[in-house]
Amino acid sequence: MPPIVRHEHVTHDSSAAALSRELLTQTAAESTSRTQLWTSFLAATKLARVAEVGVWKGDFAAAMLAECPAIDTYLMIDPWRHLEGWNKPANVSTDTFEAIRAEAMAKTEFAAPRRKVLRGTTLDVVDAIDDGSLDFAYIDGDHTLRGIVTDLVAMRPKIRAGGCLAGDDFCPNVWQHGAEYEPTLVFPVAVDVALAMRATIYALPFNQFLIVLPNEGDAGPGAFIDLVGAYPSLDLSAQVRPPRPGLGQRVRDALSAVRGGARPHA
Ligand SMILES: C[S@@+](CC[C@H](N)C(=O)[O-])C[C@H]1O[C@@H](n2cnc3c(N)ncnc32)[C@H](O)[C@@H]1O
Repeated sequence: MPPIVRHEHVTHDSSAAALSRELLTQTAAESTSRTQLWTSFLAATKLARVAEVGVWKGDFAAAMLAECPAIDTYLMIDPWRHLEGWNKPANVSTDTFEAIRAEAMAKTEFAAPRRKVLRGTTLDVVDAIDDGSLDFAYIDGDHTLRGIVTDLVAMRPKIRAGGCLAGDDFCPNVWQHGAEYEPTLVFPVAVDVALAMRATIYALPFNQFLIVLPNEGDAGPGAFIDLVGAYPSLDLSAQVRPPRPGLGQRVRDALSAVRGGARPHA
């Protein structure tokens, strides 16, 4: 399959200076919803080549395409099928996903010449996107450890220097959907991945994150800037407890504590 987005079509006129902390702070303060946050950001920065990983019913895509006329290409990446081994509430049946895909297509039909639909998981379709061809990717697919690592690592080369990787479900608590579902690990994994990329990552309202990639020749140490003030330690031990020992081990531990306590002091 030939690349869907070719490098030579990319415009680099979006000023990196526009991606300043001041702009983000102001946008974050003025936004009343996740959608408004990103439409304001994309309208202000005039980023043109955008991808969304995990489209669902297309509400977010429709808002970006409607409110941000500078977007000339919007990649909609989603398998729209039941996925084995994805233990999250959005993993509905393939029949239900078919109706959800139809809804996404209908909601974005008004922008059909600007949208490009890539049906498949990120790894299924990523080779159809040229390296360095995107200004901005919004990651909102599989939020498990495997999912966020896969999406950030696979999409990173597709973003031009100075471009952005953003996303949803940057939740301060990994148990977003309760203990019966796989934890959501966008936070803290996106922070560690961003710092490994020597990028700056911002925590934004509505559980959003934004990674601003370094410009060419600008290999700083990277930074995590929490504009929300809601994020705990990056250490998982604060949220994930070690497994409880089995009954046999607990009995042995109790017996040895009793025996130890009864032992005369030397
Ligand atoms: C939370 S919904 C996305 C919501 C959408 N971004 C919005 O704001 O309206 C998650 C979507 O991710 C998709 N998804 C799950 N795993 C994926 C993967 N590995 N690659 C791409 N998309 C995936 C699902 O099919 C589902 O439609």
